[in-house]
Amino acid sequence: MRHPSDLTALAGSTVLVTGGAGLIGSRITARLRALGARPIVLCTMNAYPEHVYANLFGVRSADPDVVLGDIRNTALVRELVAASDYVIHAAALADVAACTREPLAAIDTNVAGTQTVLDAVAATDRIRRTVFVSSASVYGDGNPKETDNAELLTMRQLLECVHGRIPSQFHESARKRPVSVYANTKAWGEEQTALVLGQVGTSYAVVRYFSVYGEPQTVKQNSHSWVVAWFAARAHLGLPLHLNGGGRQVRDMVHVDDAAEGTLRALVSPQAHTETVNIGTGVPTTVRKIAELVREHYPSTTFLDTPLPAGDPLGGYAAIHRMENILGWKPEVTVAQGVARYVAWLRNTPAAAPGWLREPTAA
Ligand SMILES: NC(=O)c1ccc[n+]([C@@H]2O[C@H](COP(=O)([O-])OP(=O)(O)OC[C@H]3O[C@@H](n4cnc5c(N)ncnc54)[C@H](O)[C@@H]3O)[C@@H](O)[C@H]2O)c1
Repeated sequence: MRHPSDLTALAGSTVLVTGGAGLIGSRITARLRALGARPIVLCTMNAYPEHVYANLFGVRSADPDVVLGDIRNTALVRELVAASDYVIHAAALADVAACTREPLAAIDTNVAGTQTVLDAVAATDRIRRTVFVSSASVYGDGNPKETDNAELLTMRQLLECVHGRIPSQFHESARKRPVSVYANTKAWGEEQTALVLGQVGTSYAVVRYFSVYGEPQTVKQNSHSWVVAWFAARAHLGLPLHLNGGGRQVRDMVHVDDAAEGTLRALVSPQAHTETVNIGTGVPTTVRKIAELVREHYPSTTFLDTPLPAGDPLGGYAAIHRMENILGWKPEVTVAQGVARYVAWLRNTPAAAPGWLREPTAA
């Protein structure tokens, strides 16, 4: 019997994927192609150099299913939406630091661009579902009293949570507490998707990714946010790994293949209608643990403990009951497997460990 979120249901249907050439979008596009669906990629393809898209992400501007364009182009978006059965809205200014540096650019793409996509979907009755790609950043630093198992926490544990010594578990029903421009735009996008598509009765779902990692993610200058790529590249070059505050911070590391799979399941699962679903493993992983997993592949790697920057939160991990119930699925790649895959890829792609990492300012 076919499971309700069986992706073979997508064969033959047309799926508009905004940002479909980016890191996660390109995995969604590849999966759709393999499933026999017809993706339409709408992407500016300007978040990386052209060779990254072509050689690492496997999406070229000349591909017949790629439209090099902008989600703020109303006429183009309307035309593409009108030719589609489903929409996955993943295009965004996805660099958190860049959104902070240029809030108006973030608002332009993540707010005005999202409105353009939602208006186009609302203007037609042929879209079976729209998935809005959001982020766990909407939880901010969380609130331990809202964890799934808050009633099981002792008063002492609760105090430790409040003081940042126990990581928060983020449940979809928690109040949103965005603490960055980027997170604010995602929180708005979630609400606006529900408002605009709810009013016209078009099905939608929201997915909140946790920390997405995996090949071919490559370190970027002025950004420390991709910890697996960062540590692996430094270890590959024989450089020490810096652990702020001893690396106690917690992340929920979800492999890019799993992020793509969860998004497609949210597109087809009947139970995902109007739902918001975390896409995470439910496993809290410390930054030190990630460093240790990288060191298993580069045994001479050394660690340097550095001070925890003021106000750096301990972080958190996903509650996954809702994801498991609604999508009938959970991520398959463990962080140990994902790190091993990344290192194997890096050894075949040494340019992914750039020389500028050797400069002292890159630490
Ligand atoms: N990577 C993560 O850990 C993570 C975590 C949570 C949420 N997300 C979200 O997932 C989605 C994909 O993220 P990613 O890591 O693949 O980012 P990415 O930057 O690799 O991909 C985004 C793509 O969108 C394109 N784009 C940007 N502005 C556009 C516009 N105005 N019109 C058309 N295309 C435009 C970019 O050129 C890029 O190719 C984003 O919405 C991001 O906010 C990512």
